[in-house]
Amino acid sequence: MTDKYAVIGNPIAHSKSPMIHEAFAKQTQQDISYERILAPLDSFEATVKGLIAQGYKGANVTVPFKFEAFNMSDVRKPRTLLAAAANTLLFDAQGIAADNTDGAGLVRDITDNLKHAIAGKSLLLLGAGGAAEGVLQPLLDCKPSRLVIANRSLDKAQAMVKKITALESYLQACEFNQLQNQTFDIVINATSAGLTDTALPLPDIIFSKNCLAYDMMYGRETPFMKQARAAGAQVADGLGMLVEQAAEAFYLWRGVRPDTKPVIAMIRAM
Ligand code: ATR
Repeated sequence: MTDKYAVIGNPIAHSKSPMIHEAFAKQTQQDISYERILAPLDSFEATVKGLIAQGYKGANVTVPFKFEAFNMSDVRKPRTLLAAAANTLLFDAQGIAADNTDGAGLVRDITDNLKHAIAGKSLLLLGAGGAAEGVLQPLLDCKPSRLVIANRSLDKAQAMVKKITALESYLQACEFNQLQNQTFDIVINATSAGLTDTALPLPDIIFSKNCLAYDMMYGRETPFMKQARAAGAQVADGLGMLVEQAAEAFYLWRGVRPDTKPVIAMIRAM
């Protein structure tokens, strides 16, 4: 019997997740199907319940349903808690289990694929929305020497810092204009400014000599990436993170870890 999975979002037509999971399944010889499901904006929960009734084993969840996915779950992995958001659901006898593999995917792309250690390094996280919040705890778990969250709206960055219960002394919040004299080993853009081709008001000094500048968006060269490249940083987009978060979900569902490198290369070549 083929086990059924899906990715649920609105919109969803652009999602590369079916291609990624089909490649993983082929590589690891897992008998699964994986499809895109467009849920009406007011019917996410009913859509999930419908899938469960049809015997689906799990689902990925994307914009704008990650919070609803968390809220309707019965069991929550610790890494869903900070952002109160889930991108992966597992359906079994215990009910709906929620996980968030975004942060693990980002960390794995940075450390394994791009070969930049996070431990002991200074990190700048740009943005304080859902995307930034979803990756904060896994980044902190890597024990950077310092992590600064910079956001256009300072109050949102400060609220994120406050949520970390064991308040780490090296965790700070600031606005972009407070970055004038600071340099970082890794700069991660988790804002959505790239969607509208908007440049962030960042001084070039933030990019250290061997800096990795990482944009969590993929499929376009954002103004952030252009600026970082011109400033001499190594630049990466979020395509590796996309594949790695999928691999982490696949592992949760199937207990098998796929080799992501050929899949990243395949998706990049498309
Ligand atoms: P997402 O789920 O993509 O994180 P979000 O929760 O709406 O979406 O958060 C968007 C993030 O991008 C926020 O940090 C936002 O900054 P504000 O908190 O000040 O709104 C940031 N952002 C979006 N457009 C931006 C722009 N043009 N300049 C700077 N920051 C921007």
